[in-house]
Amino acid sequence: MGRAMSTAILAVATIIAMPATAKQADGMTEQGKTAEERAASIVDAMTLDEQISLTKSMSGGSLLDLGIPLPSFIPEAMRQPKPDGALGTAGFVPAVDRVGFPALHLGDASLGVADIGYLRPGQESTALPATLSLAATFDPAMAREAGRLIGAEAFAKGINVMLAGGVNLARELRNGRNFEYLGEDPLLAGVLVGEQIAGIQDRHVASTIKHFTLNPQESGRFVYDARIGEAALRESDLLAFEIGIKRGKPASIMCAYNKVNGAYACENEFLMRDVLKGDWQYSGWVMSDWGAVHSLKPSIDAGLDQQSPQDEDYFAGLPAAVKAGEIAPARVRDMALRIVRSMALVGALDHRAAPGGVIDREANSAKAQAMAEAGMVLLKNNGILPLASSAKSIAVIGRHADKGVPIGGGSSQVIPWGGVYRDAPGANPLSALLAPSYGLSSPLKALQAELPGTAISFDDGSDVARAAEAAKKADLVVIYAVKPEMEGIDHADFSLPYGQDAMIDAVASANRKTVVVLQTGNPVAMPWLGKVGAVLEAWFSGQRGGEAMAAILNGKSAPQGRLPISFPAGAEQLTQKAVVGYDPAKQRPLGIGVKYDPFPIDYVEGSDIGYRWFERTEAKPLFPFGYGLTYTRFDYGGLEFRGGKALSVKARITNSGDREGIEVAQLYVAPPGRTHRLAGWAKVSLKPGESREVTIEADPWLLLSYDEAGKNWGRPRGEYRFFVGKSAGEPMLTGSAVLTAATEDRKR
Ligand code: BGC
Repeated sequence: MGRAMSTAILAVATIIAMPATAKQADGMTEQGKTAEERAASIVDAMTLDEQISLTKSMSGGSLLDLGIPLPSFIPEAMRQPKPDGALGTAGFVPAVDRVGFPALHLGDASLGVADIGYLRPGQESTALPATLSLAATFDPAMAREAGRLIGAEAFAKGINVMLAGGVNLARELRNGRNFEYLGEDPLLAGVLVGEQIAGIQDRHVASTIKHFTLNPQESGRFVYDARIGEAALRESDLLAFEIGIKRGKPASIMCAYNKVNGAYACENEFLMRDVLKGDWQYSGWVMSDWGAVHSLKPSIDAGLDQQSPQDEDYFAGLPAAVKAGEIAPARVRDMALRIVRSMALVGALDHRAAPGGVIDREANSAKAQAMAEAGMVLLKNNGILPLASSAKSIAVIGRHADKGVPIGGGSSQVIPWGGVYRDAPGANPLSALLAPSYGLSSPLKALQAELPGTAISFDDGSDVARAAEAAKKADLVVIYAVKPEMEGIDHADFSLPYGQDAMIDAVASANRKTVVVLQTGNPVAMPWLGKVGAVLEAWFSGQRGGEAMAAILNGKSAPQGRLPISFPAGAEQLTQKAVVGYDPAKQRPLGIGVKYDPFPIDYVEGSDIGYRWFERTEAKPLFPFGYGLTYTRFDYGGLEFRGGKALSVKARITNSGDREGIEVAQLYVAPPGRTHRLAGWAKVSLKPGESREVTIEADPWLLLSYDEAGKNWGRPRGEYRFFVGKSAGEPMLTGSAVLTAATEDRKR
C-alpha cells in the first residue's frame, strides 16, 4: 500500500467482471451444491411465515440502552428494547434455526465498521479515510484492500451484512454526505465501489451498494422528486451502479429515500423492475433505506424484497396480503431466495461471523494511514513543500489540531481505536453522538514527531489577531483547517466555518510561508489562495490521519491523490446556485425530526456532471476533476493510438524532476457531439529520470451512449476526440480516432 506500492503500473481501469472468489465464479458453495441449489433447498424447507420473516429487518440496537430520556422525534423503531441475539447494529433479522439459516446483522460501513460503536460506545474499529479520499487514490487495488479490511473487522464483530458501497454521484457539491461517496465520475466511482464491495465479500460478509438512486443531497431527502431524462440517468448515476454491480456483485442494493421521476425509489418500477432486475438481471436482494418504504404491494410489485426498520410497518401486512391473493407466495419465495442465495454466494453460510474475533489493530491502522496518504491531493505548492529541513520554527494553527482529525458523522461514523473527541457535545450522550467528532490522531504531535529538530508552537486559531501574531514569530506556518460533515446536513455555501477564511487570510498576510491543510468532505472556496504558499486537501484522514498528513508535508510520502470531484470557482458556475430546498433551520443530524414539503429537483445537467458541465459551459473551475500536484514533474510524449472497434492509447511518461513520484495519466474521450468522459487511466510510479510507456484502453462502455428510442446502447461511426491528460482540465496529448459503429444489448 501507499509507500510500499512502488511497482511500475499500479492500476489500469477496465471494466472486467472480477469474481470475488473462485467459488463465486461458478456459484459453488462449500457443500458441493451451487448457491442456487443450496438456497432453494433452504428456502423450500421454510414455512411461508419463515420466508416472510426474512423480508423485514428490525433495529438491531436500541437507544434505550443510552439510559437517558429520549426526545419525542426519535423513531419508535429505535425505542424498542434490543431484540434477543442482536448486536446493536442498524438492522437485525432473526435466524431461522430450523433450516440452519443464520441471523442477519446489518451494520453500517463506508469508512470502516460503523454503528456497532455508534450505539454501544466502546466498540471501536479502524477508521479508514473518507470514501472520497479513497476515490482520490484512483487505485482499484486499494479499494479492494479497504473492502477486505472492513469485511474482516465486521466478521470479527459478528456482522454479516455491511451497509457499504455508497456511490451517489456528486451532483451537489454542498451535500453533507459526499465524504461517504466516490465523487462525480461514473467510471471512477463504479470501478472503486465495485472493488470495495468485492473486498468486503472476499471476507464472507455481504455488502450493499447504495442509495439507489439520485440521492445526492440531504436537504429534503425523504420527500424530493429527482427529475431527469432516461438516457441521462442511464449514462450517469445508473452507470455507476451498473459498473459497481458488475464488478463487485453486491449481495444487496439499498433503494433511496427520495422519489425519482415521480415515484419513490423503493416503489419505483422503472428503477427496480425494469432496469435492475430486468435489464441487469440482478439476482441479489433490494432492501430499503431506513424509513424509505411507503407502501406494501406497490413496493413489492416494483421489486422491493426487504423492508428495513421503520415506524410505519407496511410489511406487517404481508401475511394478510398473501392470504388475500394480492401477493403470490411465489413472489415471497423469490424475496427469501434472493436473500439466502446472496448470503450463500459470499460464503456467509459456511463461514459464520461471530463477535470476539481477532483484529490486528496495528496492521489495520498502518493500512488506514497508507490509504490516507494515497488519497491526499496537493493543490498548490510554490516550493515550500516538502517541509524537510527548510524551517527552524513552525507555527501550527488550527481548531483541534492538537487533538485529532475530523471524522465524517452520521450512520457511517466510525469510533476509531482510541476513541473520539467531541466538539461541543452538549449535555447528554445523544447530543454527544451527533456532535462533530475528531479521531485522536493529533496533527500537531505527528508533525513534532516527524520534525524533531524544529521548534513547533500551537495556536487553535480561534483568535485571529493571536494566530497572526504566532505566524509572524515562526519561519513557517501550517494551518490545519476543518469543515466537519454529517449525514442530514448540507451546506449553504463553500466557505470554511468558524471564521477560518478570515483567520487564514490574516495569518498568510502575517507570514507568506503558510501551508493550508484542508480537512473537508467537499470542495471549499479559497479566497486566500493567492496569499498562501501551499494547499493540501487531506479530506477526513482516519485512524492515523495526523501521521499521514505529517508524512506528506515533510516529503516522507509522495503526494499522489487526484481530485475525484471538481472544485468550482464559485456557486455561479453550478447548475444550482444553492442546494435546492436548502433551509438552514432544517439542517439536523441524520435529518431526524425534520419535516419538508415535497419539492422537485430538475437535474438540468443530465449526465454532464462535474467536469463535463464545466466543459459544456466553457467555465474554468478553481481546480478540475483529476487534478493533483506531486513533488516532481512529469512530461508526456510518444502518443500512439489505435481506433476501429476499440480505442487504445499509448503514451510515454517521464519523470523529469528530481524526486520519485506517482502520476495518474487520464484518458478522456468525446463521442461525436458529446462532452469528454473519463474512459480509463494509468497510475505509474517513476524514479527521477525514469520513463515508461503506458497503454490505456478506453473502457468500451464509456464509448457508448444510451439511445432512448431504440432502448439500447450504441455509438455512431465517426471521429472520437480524445486526450491524455493530468486532469480533465489539463490535456497533455490530444488526438482523434475513427471508431466503427457499435451497439450493445446490455441486458444480461
Ligand atoms: C442512511 C443509510 C444507512 C441507514 C442505516 C440511513 O439513514 O441513509 O445509508 O445505511 O441509515 O443506518
